[in-house]
Amino acid sequence: MINKEQLNSNIPEHVAIIMDGNGRWAKKKGFFRAVGHENGTKAVRETVESCAEIGVKYLTLYAFSTENWNRPKLEVDTLMKLLVNSLKNEIKTLQKNNIKLNAIGNLKLLPTKARTELLEVIEKTKSNDHMTLTLALSYGSREELIKTIEEISIKVKNGVISPHLINESVINEHLYTKNLPDVDLLIRTSGEQRISNFLLWQIAYAELYFTEVLWPDFKEADLLEAIFNYQKRERRFGKTSEQLS
Ligand code: FPP
Repeated sequence: MINKEQLNSNIPEHVAIIMDGNGRWAKKKGFFRAVGHENGTKAVRETVESCAEIGVKYLTLYAFSTENWNRPKLEVDTLMKLLVNSLKNEIKTLQKNNIKLNAIGNLKLLPTKARTELLEVIEKTKSNDHMTLTLALSYGSREELIKTIEEISIKVKNGVISPHLINESVINEHLYTKNLPDVDLLIRTSGEQRISNFLLWQIAYAELYFTEVLWPDFKEADLLEAIFNYQKRERRFGKTSEQLS
């Protein structure tokens, strides 16, 4: 088991997590799926606090995808209720740890209660600057890219942007993630090895880390293991090893 002292100072600035396996965790234990999601929120709290302590500056969690709207209504309602309760209960954790809450996704689609609560916590924590916690809610990378292309096209049509001046920065400025740096480390739990429409543009150079652990079982030790593994890798960004040294 890795402990904090084994990590070096190369802490990934931006960690993104696909929290997967709540349903399987519940099924294995003979519980309803909702119990898996409830226990998933405990893993969220532990991970948020650990990241803040280790010095991760940006943590982005895939809490609800555009595709998750297709789940049974009861499950969607449960996830939205858990979100509202977590926001109500965890504001003190955010304030205590000086964490700013942020959200990305098509937030208009969230039920009014969830959206109002979310915007309230975002407002109350906006001056915190130790870490930014971003919840991806009703988020899908393709939807984000379509929105981006549409917004840039309108600017081109109105003469605000010239087409040959479109570059990476222009695209970044129109993404939901405009205030976030690129992802350094992407973690997915539960043994699945896919990206599932999460931050496709933003993970271009991210290190990918897959673990068999189901999300409700994801503890600080699992996070440290992922970061330790990240620190052993050489990130070349297209260069040679010799150029880096
Ligand atoms: C994946 O498990 C998880 C989700 C769809 C949602 C993640 C939500 C939480 C951790 C709880 C609420 C979050 C916050 C931020 C308060 P799954 O249901 O797809 O699991 P399965 O693949 O085993 O069925």
